[in-house]
Amino acid sequence: MIYLGADHAGFKLKETLKEALTKAKFSVCDLSPRLVKDDDYPLAAKKVSLAVLGEPGSFGVLVCGTGLGMDIAANRFPGIRAIVARTEDDAKTSREHNHANILALGERVTKPALAIKMTLTFLKTKPSKAQRHERRVHQLDT
Ligand code: RB5
Repeated sequence: MIYLGADHAGFKLKETLKEALTKAKFSVCDLSPRLVKDDDYPLAAKKVSLAVLGEPGSFGVLVCGTGLGMDIAANRFPGIRAIVARTEDDAKTSREHNHANILALGERVTKPALAIKMTLTFLKTKPSKAQRHERRVHQLDT
């Protein structure tokens, strides 16, 4: 399951991603289905983080203006490894090396086509089983 969340500044890109993911046959659950003027990114980040923690193997995609606030808020929850991606390589490496489980994106800084590419790359990339990466990811929560 892919849990989506957005504030008002990320709502439009979140809708675009929802359409692209649905078309690519991912199961999507939108936890920010309505546009709320001037709503607050920490609340959307919390909803998605708790959903991801409650369902091992699931992922989150959070969108705000920059991706930065969503990333900070999501990483407050132990077990969440959220990253902001600006390139496809960020999306890929964060899955391989950091076993990231939430992708944060910024509608004001990332064009929709790149956001879609990064999201699909993030969701399709498997975590590396190399012992050094497993060890480092384990250290994040211990
Ligand atoms: C809202 O204006 C904006 O601050 C928020 O969406 C986000 O970019 C924060 O990091």
